[in-house]
This record gives sequence, structure tokens and C-alpha cells, in this order.
Amino acid sequence: MKYTDEVYNAAPSSEPERQLYFIDLCSQFVKLKTKELGRPLKYSVITFGCQMNAHDSEKLKGILDKIGYTESDDEISDFVIYNTCTIRENANQKLYGHLGHLKKAKNTNENMIVCLCGCMMQEKHVVEKIKNSYSYVDIVFGTHNIYELAELIYKRLSNDKPVIEVLEAPVNTVEALPTKRKYSFKSGVNIMYGCNNFCSYCIVPYVRGRERSRTPEEILREINCLAEDGVKEIMLLGQNVNSYGTAFIGESEIINRNPDYGFPQLLNDVCNIPGIERVRFMTSHPKDLSDELIQVMADNKKVCRHLHLPVQSGSTEILKRMNRRYTKEQYISLVERIQNNIPDISLTTDIIVGFPGETEEDFLDTLDVVEKVRYDQAFTFIYSKRTATPAAAMENQISPEVIKDRFDRLLKTVNRISAERAERFNGEIKEVLVEEINQKDENLLSGRTDNNLMVHFPGDRSLIGQIIKVKLNECKGFYYMGEVI
Ligand code: SAH
Ligand code: SF4
Ligand code: F3S
Repeated sequence: MKYTDEVYNAAPSSEPERQLYFIDLCSQFVKLKTKELGRPLKYSVITFGCQMNAHDSEKLKGILDKIGYTESDDEISDFVIYNTCTIRENANQKLYGHLGHLKKAKNTNENMIVCLCGCMMQEKHVVEKIKNSYSYVDIVFGTHNIYELAELIYKRLSNDKPVIEVLEAPVNTVEALPTKRKYSFKSGVNIMYGCNNFCSYCIVPYVRGRERSRTPEEILREINCLAEDGVKEIMLLGQNVNSYGTAFIGESEIINRNPDYGFPQLLNDVCNIPGIERVRFMTSHPKDLSDELIQVMADNKKVCRHLHLPVQSGSTEILKRMNRRYTKEQYISLVERIQNNIPDISLTTDIIVGFPGETEEDFLDTLDVVEKVRYDQAFTFIYSKRTATPAAAMENQISPEVIKDRFDRLLKTVNRISAERAERFNGEIKEVLVEEINQKDENLLSGRTDNNLMVHFPGDRSLIGQIIKVKLNECKGFYYMGEVI
């Protein structure tokens, strides 16, 4: 197969037709190779990071399936793609660890293609390092052109050189390509991309670009199709869903701001789609969470009784330097309004320990918020310095010993409270969406309540994908053992 100007120029210029053209060309290659080798060509997608990345990986898998690759159970296969995360330094180190292992495998399989994409690739210094030290990487692309996977594979197949195409900002957003859902009965749906908040520690606005919302029509159309395809649970995805509708894709912020249609209205419209039984969303920035949203949640039983509301720190001074734009008191009062209006809600959060300049007093404020809110679960992170973020240049970085001590104390508090919170469901009958066969015991099924609590119970695999009543018999800290009622 030759990558000639004629072939390239014959490609349609509009999307998604262009990508479908390259999918077709790649599939011809896969067919030939499969015949030559006498076995299917396999692919593996390894995902790091958040729900947004996991959803992007489903899009990558959809394209690879369409090309004719078969998904492998192993990390090593003919086409290995790492969808990377750079939220903390250890996420980066993880990738380099995996790449190191891959080198040997690549030497023994001449058909192997190694591809890197995702947030880490949006950082220039990372791409430089890959070019200089990992010459066996074949394809690199970023967060703004994942839809071009087939085109990039075709380019690589037709050349002997690595293909590196990272866009600094989005040029196009292409949604109408195949995707492969992990579960047939639940799905993530992007409602917006990017982030404008620039929390001073965070790299996301730099690697995911400015905030761009999809139009309500497009989102509702997608969810209608998913419902027709048997999806019961929807997770609406965005870095800050509460600012949905500020700027739409490809159009100017000023023209499109519609104050009458924001996230609460969208959430309500999603709940009204026949067949959709549960709606979740991720993530909510406390500064933008309106009373209107609380009302929609309270009034609508389809909205799951779970809210992830990252606090990051309990100290007003630290929150100010984090550029979070709320105080300790405002956060607590917001939580009270939520708990008063939706009494059965489960709250979860993210907390960073060791932000530059964090004093013992600041840290005690964080512990105080944890005690007052009583989170069902809290994800705790040690502050990680990210290149080019304002916090990286701040003085007074905290020593690892102090951080470790605070982290351990926080973890103890958080774990004690989560266990106490989980106990409150003891003996209750709850609706559970059955997700899969238990990974450790094949006689058990695993599912989630709308509070996002995991429950394991004996049952037949035919229940997978159904919402059934389960009695929560025994609390095991973070999860329950139960029985079908
Ligand atoms: N948009 C979401 C968060 C996405 S990142 C929000 O604002 O809530 C997920 C979590 O990673 C953040 O909530 C934060 O707690 C953590 N995080 C982000 N940058 C970090 C850093 N530099 N060091 C440690 N944790 C960080
Ligand atoms: Fe990062 Fe803040 Fe945006 Fe969340 S809201 S992605 S923490 S900048
Ligand atoms: Fe990581 Fe990118 Fe998500 S940096 S947390 S994968 S948006």
C-alpha cells in the first residue's frame, strides 16, 4: 500500500466522511495482513486518568473495531495505544514504566504499532522526550484530534517515519464516528469539553483547551439513540458541568450565551427521555452550582442521589490561592442547602494535601470541613507540581515529611467517616443496576445503587443490565453484600 498524493487528495475534506474514507483504507490493510499472518490483528487500548479519558477510549476502540482490529485481553498486541493523563506527576511516570516494558515486545513483533495520545501529549516537553528517547513509538496525537485516528494510522502505514500530530487548540469536533461502549446498558456522554477555570495547581485547562459546550439538540439526539440501543444510565461528562452553555463549539461566547438554558434545563430534558432511568453527572464546581440545579435534582427521581463536589481544601486562604473562587463558609452553606433539599444524597469529594504555603491551621480547616460535611467518599491527593501552572512558581512548597503526616491523618478521618456513612443503609432494600459478574467470585454479581454504592450478591448473569431490588445485608466498609428480593 502506498501513501500517495493521489490517495491523500482523493480524501473528502468534510468530516466525518474524511475519517470514514481512511477507516476504509486501513481496513483493506488489516484484511491483507490478517490473511498474510493467518490470524486476526489485535489491539489494546490502555487508559489512564478520568472519566473523560475513559470515554475518549471508547471512541478509539470504535474506530479500531471498524478498521477490523480485534480487541485483545492483553496489554501487548499488534496495535497498542496508551490514552494518557498528566494530572499528577505519578500519572506521567506510570506511562514511562509501561513504555519501558513494551520495547522488548516491539522488537519481537515487527507488525506492532505503538501509539500515544491524551492529555500528556499536549505538553511539548513530553513529546520532545518521546521523540528523543522512545523512537519505537509510531504515532503521537493529542486531545484535540482523537477522531483522526484512522487517518494517522494510514499515514504511519504508508511511511517509515513516526507520525506526530498534536494540535494546540481544537480545529474541528467530530462526534459521528463509531464508538464501543464498555457496558451495553450505561454510557458516558460529553456535554462539554475543556475548562476555563484555571485552578492554580491544575494542568487541565492547558491540555484540554477552552470550555466548549455541545448544543442541547446534539446531546439529546445522542442520548435518544443510546436509549433506543438499550442504555438505561447516562453519565453527563464535563470538567465543570455547572457552567454548561457558556460557549458552544465553534461559535463565539458572546453570541451564544443563553441564560435561560443551562445545566439544570439540560439535566431535566435528559431525564425526560423515554428509556433513560438514571442520570449522573461529573464534575460539579461548587462556585457554579445553582439553587436551580438543586431543585431539579430534588424534583427528579431519575437524577442519582450522588454528587461529586470537589472541595480541594477547607482553608479560605488556600482556596483563594488555588483560584477556586469560594470560601470555606460558602462551601459549607452550599452543602447544607444540598443536604436539606435532597436528604438522601451521597456526597463525594477531591482533596489536595500540601498545596504551597499550606499551614497546619489550613490543614485543620480541611479536616474540619470533612467532619462537618461527612463525605460518603473522598479522593485524597498529594499536591503535585505541574509545569507552567501558577502554583508551580509559588514559594513555600511543603516538605514531603509534613505532607505525609497530613495525608495520613486525612486518610484516617476520611475512611472512618466513609465507613460510618455506608453503615446507614444496613438492612435497606435498594434499587441496583446490575453491572457484571463479580471479578473475584463468579457466583456473585456486582452492581451499584443510585448513591454509587457497590453491592455484591448471588444471582444469575441474565440479570446484568437490569435494575433490580437488592437487600443490603452486610456492610463491608466501602461496599455491601446483599441478596436479591
Ligand atoms: N474538573 C474537576 C477535576 C478534575 S482533576 C474539578 O474541578 O473538580 C481531578 C482531581 O485531581 C481534582 O479535583 C484535584 O483534586 C486533583 N488534582 C488536580 N491537579 C492536581 C495537582 N496538581 N496535584 C494534586 N492533585 C491534583
Ligand atoms: Fe482543573 Fe479547576 Fe478545571 Fe477542575 S475546574 S479541571 S480542577 S482547572
Ligand atoms: Fe488526566 Fe486529562 Fe482527565 S489530565 S484527569 S485525563 S482531563
